[in-house]
Amino acid sequence: MAKGFYISKNMGLAGLLIGAVAVVIIIALAAVYDKEKTKNQNKPVDGVAMLTTASPTTSSTLSTPKDPWEHYRLPDSLSPVSYNITLWPRLVVNASTGLYIFTGQSAVVFQCKKDTDLIVIHCNKLNLTLLNGHHARLTGLDGATAPTVKTSWLQVKTEYLVIQLNGKLTAGKSYRLSTDFQGELADDLKGFYRSEYTEDGGKKVVATSQMQATFARKAFPCFDEPAMKAVFHITLIHQRGTVALSNGRDVETVNSTIDGTEVTMTRFEPTKRMSTYLLAFIVSDFDHITGSIENNNVRIWARRKAIAEGHGNYALNVTGPMLKFFQRYYNASYPLSKSDQIALPDFNAGAMENWGLITYRETALLYDPAISSVGNKERVLTVVAHELAHMWFGNLVTLRWWNDLWLNEGFASYVEYLGADYAEPTWNIKEQTILNDVHKVFAVDALASSHPLSRKEEEVNQPDEISEMFNTISYSKGAAVLRMLSEFLTEPVFARGLSSYLNEFAFNNTVYSDLWDHLQKVRMSLPHTVHDIMNRWILQMGFPVVTIDTATGHITQKHFLLDPDSVVDRPSPYNYTWLVPIKWMKGGVERDPAWWVLANLNVSGYYRVNYDMDNWERLLNQLTTDHTVIPLINRAQIVDDAFNLARAKVINTTLALRTTRYLSQERDYIPWESALRNLNYYILMFDRGQAYGVLQVGSHYNMIYHSFTVAKDLSSYNQINAISFACRMGVERCRVLTSDWFREWMLNPDHNPIHPNLKTTVYCNAIAAGGVAEWDFAWQMFKNATVATEAAKLRSSLACTKVPWLLNRYLDYSLDPAKIRKQDCTSTINYIAGNVVGMPLAWDFIRARYGGGSFSFSNLINGVTRRFSTEFELKQLKQFKEDNARVGFGSGTLALEQAIERTTANIKWVAENQEHVMKWLANECT
Ligand SMILES: *[C@@H]1O[C@H](CO)[C@@H](O)[C@H](O)[C@H]1NC(C)=O
Ligand SMILES: *[C@@H]1O[C@H](CO)[C@@H](O)[C@H](O)[C@H]1NC(C)=O
Ligand SMILES: *[C@@H]1O[C@H](CO)[C@@H](O)[C@H](O)[C@H]1NC(C)=O
Ligand SMILES: *[C@@H]1O[C@H](CO)[C@@H](O)[C@H](O)[C@H]1NC(C)=O
Ligand SMILES: *[C@@H]1O[C@H](CO)[C@@H](O)[C@H](O)[C@H]1NC(C)=O
Ligand SMILES: *[C@@H]1O[C@H](CO)[C@@H](O)[C@H](O)[C@H]1NC(C)=O
Ligand SMILES: [Zn+2]
Repeated sequence: MAKGFYISKNMGLAGLLIGAVAVVIIIALAAVYDKEKTKNQNKPVDGVAMLTTASPTTSSTLSTPKDPWEHYRLPDSLSPVSYNITLWPRLVVNASTGLYIFTGQSAVVFQCKKDTDLIVIHCNKLNLTLLNGHHARLTGLDGATAPTVKTSWLQVKTEYLVIQLNGKLTAGKSYRLSTDFQGELADDLKGFYRSEYTEDGGKKVVATSQMQATFARKAFPCFDEPAMKAVFHITLIHQRGTVALSNGRDVETVNSTIDGTEVTMTRFEPTKRMSTYLLAFIVSDFDHITGSIENNNVRIWARRKAIAEGHGNYALNVTGPMLKFFQRYYNASYPLSKSDQIALPDFNAGAMENWGLITYRETALLYDPAISSVGNKERVLTVVAHELAHMWFGNLVTLRWWNDLWLNEGFASYVEYLGADYAEPTWNIKEQTILNDVHKVFAVDALASSHPLSRKEEEVNQPDEISEMFNTISYSKGAAVLRMLSEFLTEPVFARGLSSYLNEFAFNNTVYSDLWDHLQKVRMSLPHTVHDIMNRWILQMGFPVVTIDTATGHITQKHFLLDPDSVVDRPSPYNYTWLVPIKWMKGGVERDPAWWVLANLNVSGYYRVNYDMDNWERLLNQLTTDHTVIPLINRAQIVDDAFNLARAKVINTTLALRTTRYLSQERDYIPWESALRNLNYYILMFDRGQAYGVLQVGSHYNMIYHSFTVAKDLSSYNQINAISFACRMGVERCRVLTSDWFREWMLNPDHNPIHPNLKTTVYCNAIAAGGVAEWDFAWQMFKNATVATEAAKLRSSLACTKVPWLLNRYLDYSLDPAKIRKQDCTSTINYIAGNVVGMPLAWDFIRARYGGGSFSFSNLINGVTRRFSTEFELKQLKQFKEDNARVGFGSGTLALEQAIERTTANIKWVAENQEHVMKWLANECT
């Protein structure tokens, strides 16, 4: 491809078409932000409605409390230097409390920055032993005299230990604060917690940890903010015969006896200067495999059986090449002396990038070639790449505060594809970012209730507000805009800036603009600064649709809103205009009637594209005559843009449907997946009551799809899609096939005849077609499964039954940790909600039990409301919001707003489009 160049907006289209590929940055006219219009929208109706605005996520900004311990942020008077921590988790129930517990001692050395008579340090759910009548002991260091303690208490709401002194700590002096404590080793997946599993018929207990974002304070008293970096000296006391792991290499293991209990003490090398949220402590009887890559000791840990059966081998195989890749990409060597990765039976997130000891769900690290699918393998590859990328970006250099989480997560979500591509170069995995990030986040970011990537530091304070940052916008939009930046700076330039940034801020903290500074330094010759370009993408929500009129040469942009009638009441400093890097290509020769323009080449830009009708026609014509002329990613984009432009009423629905006509010749997965996801929206909207119409949608695409299911060159993903789509559309042959396979398995449970790649589809359809016998068999297989990926497939398939009482029982199971692990509760309810029969049951279930964000409410509400498209459902949703306004929605506040907006848009869409869609499909099918 020809090299890109920049052009000012005044040159217009004619000047651009000199090269085959061009890059242009446009600024279009400002979209006017109409403040007046929105003023009357939120008029409070009565006192109760007023309360809804005072949900917990906003209350902290309403008034400024007087006392430092009422603030959610630490005062800046003290700064930690090092900690000395000893923890002793007990893997058997404590006789006196009836709980699993851990005990510990911690001493933190801190420097006083400003004279103060107050120590405020995080501490949550720990029982502190009184030392001389107070919760902690203070000592002066290097000749400093420590003032005596006046009073100390636990401030439960803000999660602090507060110590008032009789005199002042002196700026420049250092002190040590020591605590002794006892905590519960609960099964709550937070802080220092326990995970359980059975092996050889016996119950095993693991002590493990999850500190991000605000749970280190639940393991020991600490200054629990990411910028409060320190060196940690860690010792774990553990039962003989178990192994203890932490961030550093173990340097000493001794056996001793404490109070008559035989224990082992493992001491670890001091960590590098690091944040509390990246600490990890694990005691288990796990086994490991090891490899040595360029002097970094690389180990994979898991249950003994999983290691013995080789399930850690794939992760080990790819870790070496990826570490090599990232060292070269960042031009910085791996910062630590070892790299451990461990798979845990209970783990809330997918994985966590603890520095030197990465923790994973079993499904994200373990791979069994005999049982797991190609999708499971890809998941291991990309999650490992994501976490390893954090070892530098995020861990070595850390954002100062959680408001910039998007940069940390967006970055890792972008470069995970680079690392994964290096380890599996034949998979073309980089293309998948279009489906997994760009298209996924477009759906959320096109709502008026979206939010900017970057938040102001003072807007994010409480733990709930912090956990709300871990959302699709941060991960996927972050990835998409960084990919855009890297593509227009070019990858070598981007990597050079990155390396400069990592070098300057190693072991320290940054704000996002520090990265722009370093990128700007290596690429001076831009028409706009990196700050100017990027701030528009990160400080205002949403993205533009760029419209190219090939007749007049005009290029314009406009904030893209899925619902054109929605009111944007969030002001933007840039009036919702962007600096848009546009790469494009043209096809055919000029004046040729088939001549066309295609913009956003390889979808390197985070925006949608619309054209004049003639250009749309010429593009469609090119797709049907020879689609290979148009790059693969753009074929997926044309379909996705067209369907979404139609939903936003920018183009008509028939044009969108016509972009799928060429699919009969398409053999690649990505365009098909893109089309199926958009058709899936139709199915979700129509499958209650319009079954006949849906069947038509199905049979049409199914015919096309089936025409090549036998083709040998088809990727496994396309095969899976073809079969699952056929089954979903009720194709009789599919139902018979899947039910037969499943029955064969039921007759001989020790021999599963179903190909790993097809299991999810086959299980689901057989259970949907079957009754209680099929369900109970699958439940039994789920309980017996020793491979987590297999258990996950069965767990999702159990939600496919059409029998209401089975679904209701399954909903009850989801809250019973003896049946469904806590980590899987939310996704199980969401699987049930995904089933057309289960949806109303799940919605009732959630409403009846809602208790103020006790489980991952944002995921739940997203899942359950996906089909919502009636006035009745909208009313229920609003009622639910009102009924629970007092307890609030915690980290799910935004998700609930988005659900209401999405439902509103769906109602309109169905009313306006149902008939068109049905008609078009009916015509195409005959
Ligand atoms: C940490 O504390 C233990 C005892 O609590 C002590 O023996 C050790 O010297 C301390 N280490 C550091 C680095 O302060
Ligand atoms: C902490 O103290 C409370 C109150 O005495 C007690 O109920 C709880 O069990 C204690 N927790 C642990 C882990 O010891
Ligand atoms: C500690 O005891 C365990 C089990 O009794 C034994 O296997 C191990 O070798 C001992 N370790 C040391 C350092 O003595
Ligand atoms: C790991 O690599 C080895 C050596 O290349 C290979 O034999 C083995 O099949 C790989 N394992 C997996 C699960 O990919
Ligand atoms: C961290 O960065 C700040 C601001 O750039 C600087 O003042 C400080 O010295 C750095 N600290 C370390 C330990 O490098
Ligand atoms: C936004 O619009 C206002 C009013 O139209 C204008 O004064 C301001 O300069 C615009 N800002 C930007 C960044 O374009
Ligand atoms: Zn991450």
